[in-house]
Formats: sequence, C-alpha cells, structure tokens
Amino acid sequence: MENTQIGLLGFGTVGQGVLDVVNRREGLHVAKALVRHPENYQGKYAVPFTSNPDDILSDPDIDVIVEVMGGLHPAYDLIVAALGQRKSVVTANKAVVARYGPELMSRAREARQNFLFEASVGGGIPVLDALSQHLSTVPIHVVEGVVNGTTNFILDQMDQGMSYHHALERAQALGFAEQDPSADVDGWDSARKLTILAGLAFHAWVDAEEGFVEGIRQIDAEHLTRLRQMGFGMRLVARAERHPGSIGFVVAPTVYPQDHRYLQLHGSQNAIGFLSEAGWTWIEGPGAGGIATATSIVADIQRIRMSVPDRNPLFFSPSYAENVDDAYFIF
Ligand code: HSE
Repeated sequence: MENTQIGLLGFGTVGQGVLDVVNRREGLHVAKALVRHPENYQGKYAVPFTSNPDDILSDPDIDVIVEVMGGLHPAYDLIVAALGQRKSVVTANKAVVARYGPELMSRAREARQNFLFEASVGGGIPVLDALSQHLSTVPIHVVEGVVNGTTNFILDQMDQGMSYHHALERAQALGFAEQDPSADVDGWDSARKLTILAGLAFHAWVDAEEGFVEGIRQIDAEHLTRLRQMGFGMRLVARAERHPGSIGFVVAPTVYPQDHRYLQLHGSQNAIGFLSEAGWTWIEGPGAGGIATATSIVADIQRIRMSVPDRNPLFFSPSYAENVDDAYFIF
C-alpha cells in the first residue's frame, strides 16, 4: 500500500502531536503543514510549511486533510474547500463539528469522501467509535460525562489553594485549555462535545446554545474546601437525555461524594457513560493533550487508509438532524 500523504492545517499542540505520532508509523507521511508564519518553523521540522491553504488543498498528491486549527473560521471554510477538492478530512475541531457537523457529513457523502472527528470528543478515547459501532445496536437513553480536562484541573488546583487564574494559566501551559479558555471555563467546550455525543447517540443534532450551559467561573476555593470537608467534590458534568419528542441538555458544575468515579478523574482525564437497555457502559481515558488527541486523529486516518466504510461515523446515520426542529429542550 502506498504512503498516505497528509496535509496538516494548523501546527499547535495537536498538530505537533500528529507529526510525532505519524513519524513513528509506517505508511503515513505529513506532506505539508499550514501555519501563519512559515519562517518560524522552516528548518526545525522535516515538513515543508506554507501560509497559503491552496498549496495544500490543491496538491493532487495529498490524500487526507487534517484540520487542527481550532475555531470556526477559517477552519470550516477550509474543510468545505478540501471536501470540494475531493479530499477526506479528519478534524479535532469540536466547535466546527458541533455547529456544522450534519452539513459537513452531507458534503462529504456527496463528494464520496470521509469526514471523521473522533478526536473532537474525549481526546484520545475512542468514544465515537464505541458509540457509532458497538453501542449503535441498542437505543441509548442517556449520555453523560466529564468531557473537559481544563475544568477538572482548575477545580483540583483551586481545592489545593491555587488561585483560579494561576490554575488556568497552568492548564494552558499543559496544553489542555483552549486558546480562548472561556470555552472551557464557561462550559461551551463541554456543550459542543455533548452536541456531538448526543448527535451520534440520538440521531438528533442539538444546538448547544439552546441547552442549559453553566461553567465553573463562579466557583471559588472556599466552596471547594467546604465541600471536601463534608466528603464531597465538584466536576463539570455534561448530560443529555432522550425523551419522547425532546432532549434534555445540561452542562453544569455538579457535586458528588469523594468516592464517585468523576472525582477519581484528574488533569485531562475524561469519563463518558451511555445508558441503554443493556445498562450503563463507561469509557474513560486521556481527554486532552497533543499526543492523546493525535492518537484519535491518526486512528481516523488509518480508518480512511484501510477504507472500511462501515467503521465510519459518516455512515452511521443518514440523517443526524432528524426531529431536531420538533424537539423541545428540558433542563
Ligand atoms: N480544552 C479541552 C479540555 C481540550 O480541556 O478538555 C480537549 O478537547
């Protein structure tokens, strides 16, 4: 099998993780990477850099585009352009998938290409694969989880006496927090991931902005100390429930006894559970960070390379958006 040639859009923590993981595998090769200032990177890595997206999107030798820029624009526009050039796209971008997922899946289907986004939820945890394959055999009633590492980290550090701002700075230095960390601390990162999980679980794409979303900005160290003294702790939890004609959609800081599974999660660890007729299924692991996220991206590239279409979320449901207009939301 020939080498799969990859065009990287973005070269931050996750993009560098992708290069690292790809370099240790046979059959994959990063052909070019898009950055704002190529002169800062040229010669430091064995990859040609460009600031012109067309150098990558129009290159006939590039098979797969990996979008790891983050943010809605120009990421969305470049994904549309890549699919228009009949290239498969792999992304870690939860903002783009939550907002435009159904449209991009449909564009990919029309182009007969793949649009895969395992890395957009749960970093290195193969949660979308589990959800769209194994768990698709029975109806799922509830999706729930801790899906944001930055808030775990901040809540733990504040409980140890560190200030909110210092804890946030450390989460950024560790590569967990988003460029705009308000997405983490105000709950929007969790809400976007919940939209994606609920979309695959319920075949209905919920607009996160219609749900109840509350973050951890208002929590202070005293809250956390008092809770700990009483044998409790706090995590930012995302939960979606399917009801006839409606979907409950909530992201909120929630209190649990210290021995609860959520309070055993530290740093970037995530845990996600699904309630189906078969009972609860839980999956947990590294939810953020360059290498963890890169493992999911490279797994998606491998999926495309091996061309096993029925292991592909793209083919999971022909109509992710069904019933959404009719749904009302309960909190
Ligand atoms: N900012 C995210 C987090 C990164 O803290 O979990 C992974 O999506």
